[in-house]
Amino acid sequence: MLIRPSELFNLAQKLLGDTERPEQEAKLLLSYFFNSSIGELYTKQYLSVDREALAHFAQKRLAKEPWAYIFGWKEFRDIQLKVPRGLFIPRQETELLTERAIKTISLLLPHSPLSVLDLGTGVGNIAISLSKAFPHLSLLSTDICPLALQTAISNAQRYNLTNISFLLSDLFKNIPPNKKFHLIVSNPPYIPEDKLDDLPEEVKKEPKRALNGGEKGVSILREIIETAPHFLTPGGYLLLEIGLSQEKLLKKPILKSKLILKDIVKDYAGIPRIMILRKNGKDNY
Ligand SMILES: C[S@@+](CC[C@H](N)C(=O)[O-])C[C@H]1O[C@@H](n2cnc3c(N)ncnc32)[C@H](O)[C@@H]1O
Repeated sequence: MLIRPSELFNLAQKLLGDTERPEQEAKLLLSYFFNSSIGELYTKQYLSVDREALAHFAQKRLAKEPWAYIFGWKEFRDIQLKVPRGLFIPRQETELLTERAIKTISLLLPHSPLSVLDLGTGVGNIAISLSKAFPHLSLLSTDICPLALQTAISNAQRYNLTNISFLLSDLFKNIPPNKKFHLIVSNPPYIPEDKLDDLPEEVKKEPKRALNGGEKGVSILREIIETAPHFLTPGGYLLLEIGLSQEKLLKKPILKSKLILKDIVKDYAGIPRIMILRKNGKDNY
């Protein structure tokens, strides 16, 4: 049927009336459905829409399925990534981590070729963004989950990126012990184990392996902080995404490591979210 954008928006809101934020959800439904921004849709006089298909997707959303799984993809910065069920859905906070990684690489750039590790790459969102921004980087993306790696490879191929290698690895285990990186970036699982059952239903649809950070959420973060110095060049950086108040729990492991806390960046909600750490020793940069 042909319908005016404002009428279509009302219809979408009606279909999603039983969600917590129908207006917001309607915007997401329409932008996914047409693969277009809402602003763009409103420039049209009429839109052609299959009402049954629209209702079908809304129905899935009413069953608390994340939009990214319903449509199979998610936008991250300026890229579109395939996100099959069973993989972590990239978040806005991680765009901030990626932007800080880009800033850090820019500082290090005169010393190229630079080597960067994306630990726990998921669908490849961080590595792909860095690869697009810096085609001469040498990137390694790792994950413990084979489906994540397969998907990250396929997402990288869609953008014709050839400077990322992929490795199945439990944290640093399969990385050659003499390998050094100028930057290690990671958004590891950091939800406290005892909080997993309290997560919103739609977040519970994501894999536990990508969320579960063990006791107080910092088990994996702590392991990364302990091991990263071995894989960093002197003066190399470690950028980590963390959960609520975890910066306090990580103070001791940082003190014990060869890392210096340079900065903590707050997210859009004012929550300390990104830790910027640097390996001490002779500063090559
Ligand atoms: C929170 S998700 C982040 C995914 C992606 N980097 C992002 O920022 O959207 C954490 C990722 O780490 C992976 N992971 C969990 N435990 C791991 C481990 N021990 N070694 C390597 N990767 C792990 C998960 O499979 C998942 O893809």
